Amino acid sequence: MFLLAHLSDPHLGPIPEARLSELLGKRFFGMMNWIGARRRNFGASTLAPLQTDLLAQKADHIAVTGDLVNVSLPAEFDTGATFLTSLGAPDRVSVVPGNHDAYVHSALAYHLEHWAPFLSGDDTHPDTPLDRGSFPFVRRRGPVAIVGVSTAIPTAIFLASGAAGRAQLERLEGLLVGLKQEGLFRAVMIHHPPAGERPFHRDLRDAKAVQKVIARAGAELILHGHDHRASLEWIEGPDGPVPVVGVPSASAGPDDARGAGRYNLYRISGEPGMWRCEMENRGYAPGDATVKTRGRQWLIGG
Ligand SMILES: [Fe+2]
Ligand SMILES: [Fe+2]
Repeated sequence: MFLLAHLSDPHLGPIPEARLSELLGKRFFGMMNWIGARRRNFGASTLAPLQTDLLAQKADHIAVTGDLVNVSLPAEFDTGATFLTSLGAPDRVSVVPGNHDAYVHSALAYHLEHWAPFLSGDDTHPDTPLDRGSFPFVRRRGPVAIVGVSTAIPTAIFLASGAAGRAQLERLEGLLVGLKQEGLFRAVMIHHPPAGERPFHRDLRDAKAVQKVIARAGAELILHGHDHRASLEWIEGPDGPVPVVGVPSASAGPDDARGAGRYNLYRISGEPGMWRCEMENRGYAPGDATVKTRGRQWLIGG
């Protein structure tokens, strides 16, 4: 049995001091959002107990689906790297960037530079500088292939949308086909949800194209963040429906309007053509600030 953990959207704070010139435009409104979020019991005081509980599970691998930072100031990426390191060694922790990790155009390379050990593929030489062409990355761990897709693109003020882009999706399709031939359980990490409907200003612009790739090549599990809500949707694949799972923000307090802070565990067993995957939700509930199991569900098999 392979134990995969999934957490997302910690939006680590506090936002560091910045030069006035760095706070003009989009970042100013992001700062206001963060200040408002802290008033809703959103932050380190709720993240720390959740993380302690997660680490006690001794997962084989931890998937972090983006939005580690808030307004993409350089110092926030150091905080992000410290957080990732606190989850485990880079070969046991994978991250994909969210829209807040590429908040403004000038910050587009920061996550690639600061978090490289956590988002490099197995076959990437450590000295090779990463760029958008480095995605999707692939990490093979036991029976599981972790496939990391980047949808982080800088967008205009008030926009939180993302896109994978045609070139990355062509690579993704080829990778998924090859990994199936290797007999691996394919777990795709992507910040923006590729299934369901979202308002234009925060959607995945090429969600339909992602769905077509999955329809042709398949995958066993798709993990995302961005919505700060627990969700389960499905994309039709060549061998049956593929579960698409969203998890609330790991920093959300028990009474957060969008969903109490949680993380998910996935117990993966079986073999090609007969995979089994059970999901367990752990975290808070409205009015209950203890971290415990909040649900269990078979996604594949059972
Ligand atoms: Fe987020
Ligand atoms: Fe997001």
